[in-house]
Amino acid sequence: LALKGIANQFSTTVKHNANLNLQVEQGDKKEGANVVIFELGLKHTHKEAYQINIDSSEIHIQSVTPSGAFYAMQTLVKSIPVQEVSEVHFPATEIKDYPRFAYRGMMLDVSRHFSDVEMVKRTIDILALHNLNVFHWHLTDDQGWRMEIKKRPLLTQIGAWRDNTVVGRYIGGNDYPTDNQRHGGFYTQDQIKDVIAYAAERYITIIPEIDLPGHTSAVLASYPELGCIEKEYKVANRWGVIKDVICAGNEQSLQLFKDVMDEVCELFPGKYIHIGGDECVKERWQACSKCQGKIKQLHLKSDSRFSKEDYLQSYFMGEIAQYLHSKGKQVIGWDEILEGDVSKTAIVMSWRGKTGGIKGAKRGNEVVMVPNDYAYFDYYQSKDVDKEPFSIGGFVDVAKVYSLDPTEGLTAEEGKKIIGVQANLWAEYITTFSHAQYMLLPRMAALAEVAWTPQETREYSNFLNRAKLLTQRYEALGYNFAKHILQESKSNE
Ligand code: ACM
Ligand code: ZN
Repeated sequence: LALKGIANQFSTTVKHNANLNLQVEQGDKKEGANVVIFELGLKHTHKEAYQINIDSSEIHIQSVTPSGAFYAMQTLVKSIPVQEVSEVHFPATEIKDYPRFAYRGMMLDVSRHFSDVEMVKRTIDILALHNLNVFHWHLTDDQGWRMEIKKRPLLTQIGAWRDNTVVGRYIGGNDYPTDNQRHGGFYTQDQIKDVIAYAAERYITIIPEIDLPGHTSAVLASYPELGCIEKEYKVANRWGVIKDVICAGNEQSLQLFKDVMDEVCELFPGKYIHIGGDECVKERWQACSKCQGKIKQLHLKSDSRFSKEDYLQSYFMGEIAQYLHSKGKQVIGWDEILEGDVSKTAIVMSWRGKTGGIKGAKRGNEVVMVPNDYAYFDYYQSKDVDKEPFSIGGFVDVAKVYSLDPTEGLTAEEGKKIIGVQANLWAEYITTFSHAQYMLLPRMAALAEVAWTPQETREYSNFLNRAKLLTQRYEALGYNFAKHILQESKSNE
């Protein structure tokens, strides 16, 4: 049934691009017919592997699982010209392929600016086009809580909305201009189910992120009693790091996140749940009697490497991680989870460069590489920033993305701990889908090759040779994309 869906997708694309009618049928090959055959049963250790054999009468696709058939279909589709043509020629050939990494992801931040369901689905289309298989959905942050939680309705009634938003680039402090626009939104659980199913049809798993214990202003606005101090908390209207965080000494804080995780686990079928852990300032905890009481009770002590508050964060996140384990899930956290004690079963998402990932892999944790200096797609992709849409800063061009070797600096054995790579699209300054597309494309194509192709067969000049075809495809699909690589590929010729 899955194969039939894939065959249908193939037939639809061929009809669209080449005006050729292919009939989709289940069953044995008819004698003398020219056919495209999709078939499972390929013997291969990689479950996403596929093989395509083409001769004068048939295209024969074999795969281990339907996902491999999906990627084979994509390979065929990408070899059909973008312009409408009257005939399609496939050379007689044999293709054997499988991805270098099992985890090939992209994160979308929907907290800083909300993306509606339609935009999320269109983003998932872009992942599918590039053979990525993980959509990391950053659902909560200081600037808005985006997932309906039935047991905790205030999280969206209050936490999904902010009164206004900083105008221009936020550079620090409390004195900054704001617009007069209420901003927000959230996904109902039915909408989330719909998106999960949409992604699954494209062999994409969704990893929800509930960021804790920092980046929680939206939680505090909804449940102010969970802060370390008594004050009026608001959903944040500016970017950056905020020192008000969830009180880790309050049992009610754990209970809130357990209630949230009950519904997260109920909804998301995937194995991984992301629990954040990044940029949790410890100032409030240092001065909080509840937090300090918990530190005493747990006999947590500062040492030469970490503070007792770092260990308090490990404890707090560890409690949530254990709760998730008991429900059969595995947790992912930003590389700060290495500060303190973290279970070997937690997956480290390395964002402050590759350092955390290398450390994690050496101590035996699995790692996803999302180094900001290679994979933060909110950064500028050209040095000529005046010609670029206004962005957060930084610089990561296509060549830099392409140059990422996720296992560099590790032994072969340690390298096995790197389960994959991901790009992050933070949305402080990204308010439209058109801008999002521009930031993703073509950098996502470079990341996809990092994720898919063996290191030794990758060559940037070779990538540039295909830039024209790639961008023609983007054009045909109506995407807004950055065109710098077309210049590069010209000077490459
Ligand atoms: C992050 O960029 N704070 C993970
Ligand atoms: Zn506290």
